Amino acid sequence: MTDKQQNAGRSGRDAFTSSLGMLAATLGSAVGLGNIWKFPSMTGSNGGASFLFVYLACTVVVGLPIMISEIMLGRKVKANAITTLRKLSPKGQPWGIVGVSGVVAAFLILCFYTEVAGWVFAYIFKGLSGSVLTTDPKVASAAFASLISDPMQAIGWQWFVIVFVSIIITFGISKGIEKVTMRLMPILFLLLLVICARSLTLPGAEKGLEFLFTPDFSKITGSVILMAMGLAFFKLSIGMGTMMTYGSYFRDSQNIPLTAGRVVLADLVISLLAGIAIFPAVFAYGFDVSAGPSLLFITIPAVFASMPMGQFFAVLFFVLAAVASTGAMLSLFEVPVAYLCEARQMSRKAATMTTALLVMLLGAPAALSSSMTKDVKIFGLTFFDLFDFLSSNLCMPAGGLLICIFTGWVFGKDKFKAELTNHGLIKNEAIIDSLFFLIKYVSPLLVAVVMLNMLKVF
Ligand code: PFF
Repeated sequence: MTDKQQNAGRSGRDAFTSSLGMLAATLGSAVGLGNIWKFPSMTGSNGGASFLFVYLACTVVVGLPIMISEIMLGRKVKANAITTLRKLSPKGQPWGIVGVSGVVAAFLILCFYTEVAGWVFAYIFKGLSGSVLTTDPKVASAAFASLISDPMQAIGWQWFVIVFVSIIITFGISKGIEKVTMRLMPILFLLLLVICARSLTLPGAEKGLEFLFTPDFSKITGSVILMAMGLAFFKLSIGMGTMMTYGSYFRDSQNIPLTAGRVVLADLVISLLAGIAIFPAVFAYGFDVSAGPSLLFITIPAVFASMPMGQFFAVLFFVLAAVASTGAMLSLFEVPVAYLCEARQMSRKAATMTTALLVMLLGAPAALSSSMTKDVKIFGLTFFDLFDFLSSNLCMPAGGLLICIFTGWVFGKDKFKAELTNHGLIKNEAIIDSLFFLIKYVSPLLVAVVMLNMLKVF
């Protein structure tokens, strides 16, 4: 009997069919615009290597233990995030609410993520026609503004992306998500290496590497730690049921800590490679490294336009970003789709269409944040920034904190150990003990301090 038949036979659900497939899908969720858009722009505007150092610490101490816990809880129950937490809750305790907050966070992220992904897809075509390639940052900036402030284009590209991802989702876990991410991940690595090679061979490239790898610890402030923690949550797709949902499709024989460790490491390498692809080129052509989010759509096209064979590499770069965003969006879609299928008894097609329609509806105000809704401000933020803020800085850290408390104090050490040693089959007790210590005491404390700091309690 194949692994897939074993899985299906036991639970009647579709599931990942191979170890490599589980790795590719999980990595596909972690890797995304976060590596190519958020990581370089945040590193660029927060002091380079010192930010990288804090981000690394947050990833290892907080990110990895939460990712492992989420996958473990999902695999134990083999259900969507809401059902998983409801089933594991002791009588009368409302832990299912953490799953609900996860589904809400998935929608919030999808609302702005599909918009940025839409710009990326648009830039592939605009790059091919050469219309966004100019060495003058002012012209590049005007080209980007004309895309995001045109309601038809902004909505059109967002819908294009939503339909594209929905089609893959309807094929299911093994034939859709697993198959696609197994093909996309090697392509992503290859494209990134080609662009790194181009960037590193430009005269003056060393300055970019120096910027990325020489730490200046005086730059570490409270707000830098807050941002690094938020980025770690966003990057690793944790605190909102995504990893729990993917964990529910894991095989019982999979070594969860090892898979999660590999995902975190590979994700980090991809972020660093993205930094190596971007910073040397930005320095070589004398552009501003702290351009923030516009780095991707204004600075990068201008940098590429300045170099030999620039159009080719610019198109390659945006194909890379589109590939990365696809794996992440698949995992975001899967959170509500799994819930609608299992708890609301919808067919996969109906669940996907419902999710897609909701994202189109709720995402429209975010897509129009630079045009029709640009003057609507809630807490001083446009819809686009509000959705980003609420998901990355509120839902994900709060969800992460509650998952730590649930795992450490409710689920408990014995079950944690049994699940992660695959009931004694894997000899990794020392690692599991340290992980449990982190998840019970260290990670929740750190997340709580950072959140209280954000709420200006200190
Ligand atoms: N990790 C993705 C990225 O770095 O782009 C974004 C993301 C995907 C966040 C899935 C949350 C999530 F559930």
